[in-house]
Amino acid sequence: MAILVTGGAGYIGSHTVILLKEMGQDIIIFDNLSNASKEAILRVERIVGESIPFVQGDIRNKDDLSSVFEQYDIDAVIHFAGLKAVGESVSKPLKYYDNNIVGTITLCEVMAKYQCKSIVFSSSATVYGDPETTPIKEDFPTSATNPYGRSKLFIEEILRDIYVSDTSWKIVLLRYFNPVGAHPSGTIGEDPLGLPNNLMPYIAQTAVGKLKTLNIFGDDYDTMDGTGVRDYIHVMDLAMGHVKAIEKIAQFTEVMTINLGTGNGYSVLEMVKNFEKASGKKVPYTIVPRRAGDIATCYADPSYAKEILDWEAKKDVYTMCKDSWRWQSNNPNGYKEDV
Ligand code: NAD
Ligand code: WQD
Repeated sequence: MAILVTGGAGYIGSHTVILLKEMGQDIIIFDNLSNASKEAILRVERIVGESIPFVQGDIRNKDDLSSVFEQYDIDAVIHFAGLKAVGESVSKPLKYYDNNIVGTITLCEVMAKYQCKSIVFSSSATVYGDPETTPIKEDFPTSATNPYGRSKLFIEEILRDIYVSDTSWKIVLLRYFNPVGAHPSGTIGEDPLGLPNNLMPYIAQTAVGKLKTLNIFGDDYDTMDGTGVRDYIHVMDLAMGHVKAIEKIAQFTEVMTINLGTGNGYSVLEMVKNFEKASGKKVPYTIVPRRAGDIATCYADPSYAKEILDWEAKKDVYTMCKDSWRWQSNNPNGYKEDV
């Protein structure tokens, strides 16, 4: 019996594959490499000390998926594959709906055909929109302000409908807060294409000298220092949340919706200070106007994950920065050959 990891060559998927292998699981990575590199898989293999079956394919392609289900005895899927750039989703909504929603529907159709009905889905805290209060609990109202977030909301609803139609499905919706950090080896990590959209890779690339200045999007929010507050979670803690979800999935008798966050909020300025301490480098910054669509504060109430999955985040913000820095400073150009 094996687990299919869609998007397993990507940032969160590659870290999760390591923990799954360490738990003795058989894994197949399925990825179209649209936002990842084969080098990431080679490095994961080096970390775990064995080769991992990899299929280059697209979740929108039934033939690509079916050939994997024909070849391997797959009993669960961890479904990371998806596009995630919020800004791009606004300018190219159909690309996001096609890739994320059509892709997930196709995946579920093929799963059903092969009687594989267990899926852990990568949802996001973005489905809470602009919450009225924090910390955020799973039963808070949901909304979306961009096509990326809407694709996550739609997929959550589609998966709930699948369950209503056939309660033998086992479905876990994991709503991640802000994943950061890297594997402690410093050999794998987040490798965004082009200019980073997210704070941590932007800080890391500024510290390593690839970018000149961090733009801080607004210092007039109603927060401790005026900058945005988020729940940053170490990617290895997040990966462990998936291991726990897979371990427990057979017991679930309803669709499970679970926050994966730490429960702590840090401001942009606090993140900059922690990163400077962890790296010993200066991170020059400029305050610029707010970014459209941003909210002031977002952090999880992670108590349901503790209750249901017996999981909680363990790594602190300093460790997140330290591990991001190890990855960034050892690999200034990410997985690309040094130029
Ligand atoms: P990532 O881009 O590093 O990984 C996604 C992987 O999916 C990539 O390797 C990409 O090549 C692959 N992929 C995309 N479309 C595909 C397709 N049609 N067929 C096959 N493979 C495809 O992103 P990540 O940060 O590792 O995120 C993983 C998942 O978690 C995504 O679904 C993302 O939306 C979700 N998520 C991410 C964050 C975050 O901030 N990183 C937060 C919440 C949720
Ligand atoms: C964090 C904070 C910014 C960059 C996004 C998605 C969300 C989820 C996680 C997938 C905010 C500030 C950022 C910069 C800055 N992804 N910032 N300068 O916006 O919380 O969430 O990633 O599901 O859907 O929206 O994360 O890292 O972009 O921003 O000042 O160059 O850093 O304003 O306060 P965000 P982020």
